[in-house]
Amino acid sequence: MPNRSPAPLLVLIGFMGAGKSTLGRLLARQLACPLVDLDSEIARIHGPIPELFASRGESGFRAIEHHQLDHILPGLARPAVLALGGGAFLQPANRELLDRHAATVIFLDAPFEVLYSRITDSTQQRPLAGDCDRLRRLYQQRRPTYLLAHHTLDASGGDPEAVLTSLVHLANRLGVSAPARDTL
Ligand code: S3P
Repeated sequence: MPNRSPAPLLVLIGFMGAGKSTLGRLLARQLACPLVDLDSEIARIHGPIPELFASRGESGFRAIEHHQLDHILPGLARPAVLALGGGAFLQPANRELLDRHAATVIFLDAPFEVLYSRITDSTQQRPLAGDCDRLRRLYQQRRPTYLLAHHTLDASGGDPEAVLTSLVHLANRLGVSAPARDTL
């Protein structure tokens, strides 16, 4: 995918449990720029995601997800951070939208076992996170597409601050500098 944004839109992608929302929040705070969490926006407008899956099925959720991404992208400031849900980047139409808006896509990568233990430890309800074998297959199917991102960062460590440091370095290389601060 071409990467041509002068003040980038940093888009975090990856499997469930990769830390997209947490790191998105930390990164936006560190860079003092806006954050949009696509799933939070969807939930704010349409209600909880598990209920959307139950009432409209996965295809109904994907249609809402695409519509919401299409709606959000034109109005986003640069720089900004956008955290996507784990399935959003898998939809070709969403990848086209990100490309059209010259987004810089960052894949937060981690082995399945690490992600699975985070998913099972979390209280967050995830409609697709049922059976371990099914989830592993989904991970294996999806990972080659995640690797189409412009950048891949290792997000397997337990300390989000370490990944945050890598993200901030990457943002610096892309021309976004964090304002001087004593603490996060
Ligand atoms: C999904 C991941 C979820 C959420 C929805 C579908 C997926 O977001 O968008 O349940 O298809 O992987 P997280 O990746 O933040 O859990």
